[in-house]
Amino acid sequence: MIDAPLISLQEVSKTYANGVAVLKGLDLAVNAGETLTLLGPSGCGKSTALRLIAGLIAPTSGDIVWSNPTLRKNLGVVFQEPTLLPWASVFDNVYLPLRLTGEKREKAEPRIRHALARVGLSDFAAALPRELSGGMKMRCAIARALVTEPAVILMDEPFAALDEVTRFQLNDDLLALKLELRATIIFVTHSVYESAYLSTRIIVMSKVRGAIIDEIIIDPALTRNAEFRHTDHFAEICRRASLALRHATDENIGTTP
Ligand SMILES: Nc1ncnc2c1ncn2[C@@H]1O[C@H](COP(=O)(O)OP(=O)(O)OP(=O)(O)O)[C@@H](O)[C@H]1O
Ligand SMILES: [Mg+2]
Repeated sequence: MIDAPLISLQEVSKTYANGVAVLKGLDLAVNAGETLTLLGPSGCGKSTALRLIAGLIAPTSGDIVWSNPTLRKNLGVVFQEPTLLPWASVFDNVYLPLRLTGEKREKAEPRIRHALARVGLSDFAAALPRELSGGMKMRCAIARALVTEPAVILMDEPFAALDEVTRFQLNDDLLALKLELRATIIFVTHSVYESAYLSTRIIVMSKVRGAIIDEIIIDPALTRNAEFRHTDHFAEICRRASLALRHATDENIGTTP
């Protein structure tokens, strides 16, 4: 028997209150354990899709079905901006999601320490966000998303503002975390290279109502390391994703909403 998808978007459409129709009839099944990347031109509806999955906004029509609805209550969410509380220490920023569930600081401490260790911030627990580099702030945001041990992690261009070396490092860290946590990750990026490196599946969305114009499946068993970036296979994935992205962008020309 084939397992039901973890999350199914069924004929999902979203029109914002101002009349902007972003997604139309989006069908997308997210399978447990995959790293699914949404790639597409600016404004095609990637963040909208993520917000819908997170339940932060409701679809105008269509359904979002979770095979196990309890997983929906414990999502890890990471946005492009780390959005840390500036007055709170790294420790307390990571404590926040547990504090919101009423968990006492002392009881939460081992989990917070574990989350900080996972992202390499153990020595910075007492630091304030302003004392951290951009990459460290993002690590802190990731620790905060992981501290509740979510089975599903949503990431919206989390590394876009970082320099390439830091970004590559965090890509590798995310892959290691993924192996450890066995979480399902839905990732949004503008970077073809990042999508090819991290994903087990890439969905390329068109600017026209967020239609899916290509789907690239990548073998989850591939070893993703510096050498992988130099393989013909990696180049081929990037070529195909770039082509689809160009197509997705061109499709918009001359199209009325
Ligand atoms: N709250 C909102 N109210 C009205 N329109 C919105 C709202 N949020 C997004 N939009 C519009 O919906 C469209 C899709 O936005 P969305 O943020 O999902 O795109 P995106 O693919 O994430 O783009 P980017 O790559 O630039 O982040 C855009 O035209 C945007 O202006
Ligand atoms: Mg976006």
